[in-house]
This record gives sequence, structure tokens and C-alpha cells, in this order.
Amino acid sequence: MKLFIDSGNLKEIESLVPLGIIDGITTNPSLLAKEPGDYREILKKICQIVKGPTSAEVVATDYEGMVREGRDLAGIDPHIVVKVPFTKEGVKACKTLSSEGKRVNVTLCFSPTQALIAAKVGAAYISPFVGRLDDIATSGMSLVQEIVEIYDNYEFKTEVLVASTRGPIHIVEAARLGADICTCPAAVIEAMFKHPLTDIGLEKFLKDWEKSQGVKA
Ligand code: E4P
Repeated sequence: MKLFIDSGNLKEIESLVPLGIIDGITTNPSLLAKEPGDYREILKKICQIVKGPTSAEVVATDYEGMVREGRDLAGIDPHIVVKVPFTKEGVKACKTLSSEGKRVNVTLCFSPTQALIAAKVGAAYISPFVGRLDDIATSGMSLVQEIVEIYDNYEFKTEVLVASTRGPIHIVEAARLGADICTCPAAVIEAMFKHPLTDIGLEKFLKDWEKSQGVKA
């Protein structure tokens, strides 16, 4: 399963990419709004650091505006994936942009019917928002399971990009369901590394080694 960072923060991205486990980035207007500076320059820098798919979202809500913004965003760097919200206008824009060879990530997916429609218009990625569904006492992972099953039945090429993740358990569940990608805030990726038994075990190995060296000397 590919791992993306859900962030527009260069420091977070720069600290995680050297680990060699990051395959791409997702941003959204809320994330980029938090970062000072020109969003186009930030997106360009992110692409240069990660050298992988980097989602940048349109803010227009009409078809023409989405297509115009999508073309403009795609022009920033070849790694840019145009993100459009799941609306009728977004679906039309996805069809147009995909037919021009641009990769489109259809975002704000909360149902399997939305995922089916996105695949039919050639979306490169579908982003089910698991955390926001969990927040309203609905299983986000059940949605992922349904989408994976539907896409497998028809061999759709659209990749399932699990979004709105809140903790490492979402990564485990996404991987068990065979999702293609999980995008996570930097803190969630950091948490994947942590296990107290690793820390305790390493401390003991080093102490035992140190003791034995003292005895030998
Ligand atoms: C994904 O593409 C979205 O940017 C993101 O995962 C939304 O997460 P949130 O629900 O935590 O805002």
C-alpha cells in the first residue's frame, strides 16, 4: 500500500520523505490556507521534494472554473494531480480533465455510488473520507471495503486513496482491505514507528553489551 502525507507543510514533508516510505502528498484548501507564502510555489516545492503524485484542489465550484483551475494547477508540475470535489460539476470536470490526460483525484467521497461514478468518468483516484464518517458514527472502513469490492468486480483502474485518517489503526485497516493508498497527517505517520517494546528491547541490548565490554576490559 502506498503512503501519502496529508499536508501542505514543507517542514513536515522534508522530515518524512528521507525515510523512503512516502509515495505522494495530498493537500486541500484548508491545509494550504495554513501555510504562509504563494500556494503555487509551495506546491512546486512539494513536488520537487516528494517526486510523486501531489494532489492540489480546485476551489471553483462551476464546471468551467474547475476545468480552468485544474489545467492551471496541472501546469505547475508534472507530479500535480488535480483534486475536484464530488459534485455534478466536479464529475463533469473530472471527465474533461481525465480525457486530456490529467490525473484527477475525486475528493469528499462518502458513498459507494459516488465512487462508482468517479471511476466511470476516469478518476485516477477516489478519496473516501473515513475519519469524517467515523465522526458521525458511521463506519468509514465499511465504505472503503465496498469501494474496493466494486472496483475489483469491474477492474476499474481508479485507485482507492483512503483519506481523513486519524490514527495508525486506519492505516492497518486500509491495508487489510487492500486499499491502494492511505494519506495521513505527519503525526499519524510518526505514530506508525512507535512501540514501547522496541524502545525497552533496544535499551536492554545496549546495556547488556556495555556491561559485557566492561567485564572484558
Ligand atoms: C484528503 O485528501 C484530505 O485532504 C484529508 O484527508 C481530509 O482530512 P480531515 O477530515 O482530517 O480534514
